[in-house]
Amino acid sequence: MQPLLTLPHTALSRSEEETEALGAAFAALLAGRGEPLSFVALEGDLGAGKTAFVRGVASVLSPGSRVQSPTFALLREYRGGGTPLYHFDLYRIADEDDLATTGYFDIEEGVILAEWSGRIPGALPPHRYTVRLERTENGENERSITIKETDDDHPRT
Ligand SMILES: Nc1ncnc2c1ncn2[C@@H]1O[C@H](COP(=O)(O)OP(=O)(O)OP(=O)(O)O)[C@@H](O)[C@H]1O
Ligand SMILES: [Mg+2]
Repeated sequence: MQPLLTLPHTALSRSEEETEALGAAFAALLAGRGEPLSFVALEGDLGAGKTAFVRGVASVLSPGSRVQSPTFALLREYRGGGTPLYHFDLYRIADEDDLATTGYFDIEEGVILAEWSGRIPGALPPHRYTVRLERTENGENERSITIKETDDDHPRT
């Protein structure tokens, strides 16, 4: 058993596998929270490792799921476990009306993992987790990953 993460959490990843492992540790944190619906914003450039992180989350919450970039689909759902996962890639979304066609606003239970959620600023829930992945200057494969939790309704001063 890995120790539970505490937030905010910052780590260095040196491989896709390490990013997946951090996603798995984060999934354990989410499972412990027991929220009916959690929202996770994944931030970072093309190829930063957002989908890799989601793969790690799914390995815990929806085992057996094949997690790929949903770029051409906007949404992929994984139901390999007790928690439905909704994996959005909003890179190509036109506007927030387009979001409604995916059923986004009807989701009541599970975990939403959204790549490129900056495209839908008006549709973000006030309470959310943000995972930011950034390349470092140290080689092709290193990423700095920060996970935080914010609540617009209860901002910290
Ligand atoms: N430390 C690392 N963590 C994650 N991925 C890494 C790492 N080092 C190298 N990679 C490589 O970077 C790529 C990350 O791809 P991934 O699809 O997860 O990125 P993404 O952020 O989802 O991109 P996009 O915005 O295009 O969806 C993969 O090819 C992976 O092998
Ligand atoms: Mg991706």
